[in-house]
Amino acid sequence: MDRLKKKFQLKSSKLKVEVKNLRKAHGAKVVDKVNIAQIIGGMRGIKSMLWETSELDANKGITFRGYSIPEIKEILPKRSGGGKEPLPEGLFWMMLVDEIPTRSDVDWLSKEWYSRSKLPQLTLNTLASLPENTHPMTQFIIGINSMQATSVFAKRYAEGMNKNDYWDATYEDAMNLIARLPRLAAYIYRRVYHKGIHIAPDPKLDWAGNYAHMLGINDTEDFKSLMRLYLTIHADHEGGNASAHTAHLVNSTLADTYLSYGGAMASLAGPLHGLANQEVIKWIMTMTKELKTTKPTDDQVAKFINKTLKAGKVIPGYGHAVLREPDPRFTAQRVFAEDYIKDDDYVKIVWQLFRVVPPILGALGKVKNPWPNVDAHSGAILVHYGLKEYTYYTVLFGVSRALGVLANSCWSRAFGLPLERPKSVNSDWLKEQVGIKVAKKKPVKLAKRKSTAKKKAATKAKPAKRKTVAKNKTVTKKATPKKSVAKKAAPKKRVVAKKAAPKKAVAKKKATVKKAAPKKRVVAKKSAPKKRTAKKAVAKKAAPKKRVAGKKTAPKKRTAKKAVAKKRTAKKAVAKKVVAKRKPTTRKANIKRTANKRTTKKK
Ligand SMILES: CC(C)(COP(=O)(O)OP(=O)(O)OC[C@H]1O[C@@H](n2cnc3c(N)ncnc32)[C@H](O)[C@@H]1OP(=O)(O)O)[C@@H](O)C(=O)NCCC(=O)NCCS
Repeated sequence: MDRLKKKFQLKSSKLKVEVKNLRKAHGAKVVDKVNIAQIIGGMRGIKSMLWETSELDANKGITFRGYSIPEIKEILPKRSGGGKEPLPEGLFWMMLVDEIPTRSDVDWLSKEWYSRSKLPQLTLNTLASLPENTHPMTQFIIGINSMQATSVFAKRYAEGMNKNDYWDATYEDAMNLIARLPRLAAYIYRRVYHKGIHIAPDPKLDWAGNYAHMLGINDTEDFKSLMRLYLTIHADHEGGNASAHTAHLVNSTLADTYLSYGGAMASLAGPLHGLANQEVIKWIMTMTKELKTTKPTDDQVAKFINKTLKAGKVIPGYGHAVLREPDPRFTAQRVFAEDYIKDDDYVKIVWQLFRVVPPILGALGKVKNPWPNVDAHSGAILVHYGLKEYTYYTVLFGVSRALGVLANSCWSRAFGLPLERPKSVNSDWLKEQVGIKVAKKKPVKLAKRKSTAKKKAATKAKPAKRKTVAKNKTVTKKATPKKSVAKKAAPKKRVVAKKAAPKKAVAKKKATVKKAAPKKRVVAKKSAPKKRTAKKAVAKKAAPKKRVAGKKTAPKKRTAKKAVAKKRTAKKAVAKKVVAKRKPTTRKANIKRTANKRTTKKK
C-alpha cells in the first residue's frame, strides 16, 4: 500500500466511526431550515451534503482544510529549485488526509502520478473518431468516459468486492484519473489546435509543470508557475457547486470515478459555471474589436456593459451563487499578473472591468454579488502566455477540479455514504404551504380495470377447482357443469335455450340415446367448443344462404344464432322437457361413470 493510501486508510477508518456515532447519537438534531425561495431558487445555501475537503464562506471565500488561498500559497511545498506557486500535488495531499505535506511527500506524489499517467489506447482511438471541431470539453468528457473500461472500482465491484473496500478501489481510480488528466487534456489541445503534433511528457516535471510543457505553447518557468497556481486555485469550491455536486450524486450510485467525473465535467461545461472562463475573454475580445481599441476608456467600457445587459445577457465573470465579496481566486490571479505581466492590455482591461462593472451591476438592484469571480481573470493571463484558443479554457478548469472532487469521493466511499436522494415538491404543494387553494384533480375511476382483474382471477380460479376435484375424487368434474345447467335451466329461459339447443342438436346428430352421456360430458366440460359445435350443427341445418355467409366468420355466427333462435322458439317446449328430464339423469350417470373410470385408472 502506498504512503498516501496508508495515511488515508488510518485517518478515514477513525473518522468513519466518529461520523457513524455522530449520526447515531445526534441524527435528529436540526441544523438547517428550508424556505420556499430556496426550493425555487436553486437550493441556495441549504446544508445537506457531507464534504470534507473544502468550505466556502460568502465573504472570506474558499478555504481548503481550513486554509485560505493566501495561506496555502505560504504553507504548501513549491517546486524544488524555485517557483513561488504551490504545487497542486500538495493541495491534493492536504485535502485527502488533512495534513500539510512535506516536500518529499509532494515529490513522491509527482512521481506516482507520472507513473500512472499513460493514456489507454482505447481513449486515443475514441478521440480519433471525433471530428476535430468537437468542443474540447465534449472531447474531454468523452475521453474521461472512455477510460471507464479501466476502472478498478468497476472491475472489483463486478467480482463481488466487499463494501468495506470501496474506498480502496476509489482511491486507485482517483489516482489513475488525476494522473492521466493533464495528458488527456494536452492531447486534446494538440489534436484540435496543433494538427495533432503531440509533445511527450517529461518525467522530471511535476503534474502541473508537465501539463504546461505538453501544451507546447510556452516552455518558460513562468507559464509552468501559472499552471501550478491555476490548477491549485480551481481545485475545489466545497460540495454544492454544480460540478462537485454532480460528481457526488453520480458517485453515490456506486458509479465509478470515471463516470462520476465525466458527469461533473458535463456540469462544468455550462456557461453559468466553468464555461464562463471562455465567455469572459470572448466578451472582452468582442468589446475591443467593436471599440477598435485594446485601451478603451471607462466610459466606453460602461457603454459596452450596458449594451450587454440590455441584450438580456449576463456580464460573464461577475456574480456568484455564494460569494458576496471579490473572489479570492480572482485576487490570487491578479497578484500573479501584477508580479509577472502587469503591462498586458487584456490584463489591464480585466482590472478596468473590476472598477467599472460592480457599480453598474449593483445599480440593477437584483444582483446579489456584483464582484468578479475566478473566471473574470484567467483568460487574460492565458492569452498573454499564448493560450489564445478560449474554447479550450474550461478543460484547464476541469483538470484542476478533479483534485478536490476526487479526494472527496474517496471520503464518501470511506464513510459509506448512501445513495443521494432528496425530496422534490411541486408548485401545488408550495401553494398549499402558504394557504393558496389548489384545485384538486378528479380521481380517475378504475372500476373497469378492477372488473377485468376480477375476471382474470375468476378464470384462473376455475382450473384450480377442477384440479382439486380430480384429486379429491369425492366430487366429480361434473359439479361445475351441473351448476351452470342448473342456473341456466331454471328461470332464465333464454340462456337455457342458447345452450340447450346446441346440446340437443349435437345429441340429435350423433345418436343421442346411445352415447348421450360421454358426449354431453365433452360439451359440458368446455363451454366454448360446445357452442361452436352447436352452431356448426345449426349452420349445417340452416339454409344454403347461411352456409355461404358462414365463410365470413362473424356474420356466420350471427346468422347461425338467429336460425337457432327460430328453431328454439319452435322447439322451446321440447327443449325444456329434454333439459328438465334428461340432463339430471344423464349427469348423474356421467358422474358415476367418470368417478368409476378414474378410480380404475388410479388403481
Ligand atoms: C454566477 C451566477 C450564475 C449566480 O447566479 P445567482 O445565484 O442566481 O445570482 P443572483 O442571485 O445574484 O441573481 C439575481 C439576478 O441577478 C442577475 N445576475 C447575476 N449575476 C449577473 C451578471 N454577472 N450579469 C448580469 N446579471 C446578473 C441574475 O441573472 C438574476 O437575474 P434575474 O432575476 O432576472 O434572473 C450569476 O451571477 C451569473 O450568471 N454570472 C455570470 C456567469 C459567471 O460568471 N459564472 C461563473 C460563476 S463562478
